Amino acid sequence: MKKILIIQDINKKGREILANHPDYEFEVIDDVNDPALKDKIVDCDGVSLRTAKLPGDIINLGKKLKIISRHGVGYDNIDLKTCKENNIIIAITATANAVAVSEHVMFMLLSISKRKNMYDDSVKTGNFNNRNKLPKTQEIWGKNILIAGFGRIGQCLIKRCLGFEMNVFVYDPFISSEKIESFGGKKVENLKDAVKNMDVISLHIPLSKETKNMINLDILKTLKKNCIIINAARGGIINENDLNQALNKNLIFGAGLDVFEIEPPEQDNPLLKNDKVFLSPHAAAFTEECMIRMAKETTQNIIDFFDNTLEKSKIIKL
Ligand SMILES: NC(=O)c1ccc[n+]([C@@H]2O[C@H](COP(=O)([O-])OP(=O)(O)OC[C@H]3O[C@@H](n4cnc5c(N)ncnc54)[C@H](O)[C@@H]3O)[C@@H](O)[C@H]2O)c1
Repeated sequence: MKKILIIQDINKKGREILANHPDYEFEVIDDVNDPALKDKIVDCDGVSLRTAKLPGDIINLGKKLKIISRHGVGYDNIDLKTCKENNIIIAITATANAVAVSEHVMFMLLSISKRKNMYDDSVKTGNFNNRNKLPKTQEIWGKNILIAGFGRIGQCLIKRCLGFEMNVFVYDPFISSEKIESFGGKKVENLKDAVKNMDVISLHIPLSKETKNMINLDILKTLKKNCIIINAARGGIINENDLNQALNKNLIFGAGLDVFEIEPPEQDNPLLKNDKVFLSPHAAAFTEECMIRMAKETTQNIIDFFDNTLEKSKIIKL
């Protein structure tokens, strides 16, 4: 029997895959800070993990641990060095969430462009007749969008942007211009030069030493005043202080953030009170459909790994 520890519960469709398999048993632990975690991880063969941080000292306790299966695609919450030292592989739900995240980006982009909060409030508060006094909304038709990061989500987003007849530019030094053109986009080589001409910038890159604070005041100062910037990748890629300044100085039109430098963001984070920001609680992938897909892929990846059938593209190179 292989023992699997599900850290932070997942949709029951994912649990059912393990429950229906004769060779697996599992336990669910709701919180990574639960003191029971240290005991339970000792004899388990695999872990399913959502967004909680899994530090090296906890991973080291898992003497039989062979796989950490992420419910999602980011893995910056896992101590990679310890995994490498202990030959533990990290698997991701590579195919599950690109649609949900790209739809969420379109939702944020349209909500900001159409000043969703302000227009919605005007009717709900009995101020329908003030509509001519409200600041105007803006169209996305014919506008330039820069997709930074052309992986699973970037490639899914471009189709939606082209559906709205936007001009799509892509910044991803690791993807060829041929590939980008085959999707209908245009590759840009230099981020600093490219952003100056953009009406929208959407980030779809991992958080790393190179990408931390990639969008900072120096960059924000060069953007068009109507520019909308969206981060549904990882907090910290945009410097939050700099973004707040840029919004307050009307350097850009607005921003959409699904992710934050600290999650949950502190209540005194000024971005929480900024009307020009549209926020969601790291929930771009929280569609009913996506949660089921992710849960099933998370547990199936564990079984496939032990069956030696796990696709290489789902394993993170450490
Ligand atoms: N908000 C959410 O709930 C949510 C859900 C899923 C994924 N994400 C995040 O979205 C991001 C993208 O996910 P994905 O599945 O498309 O990943 P992916 O690995 O398929 O694609 C990432 C792309 O970024 C490119 N890249 C890497 N470093 C870069 C750099 N310095 N500059 C420009 N491009 C760079 C890579 O070449 C790759 O094409 C990740 O940060 C992931 O953690 C967030």
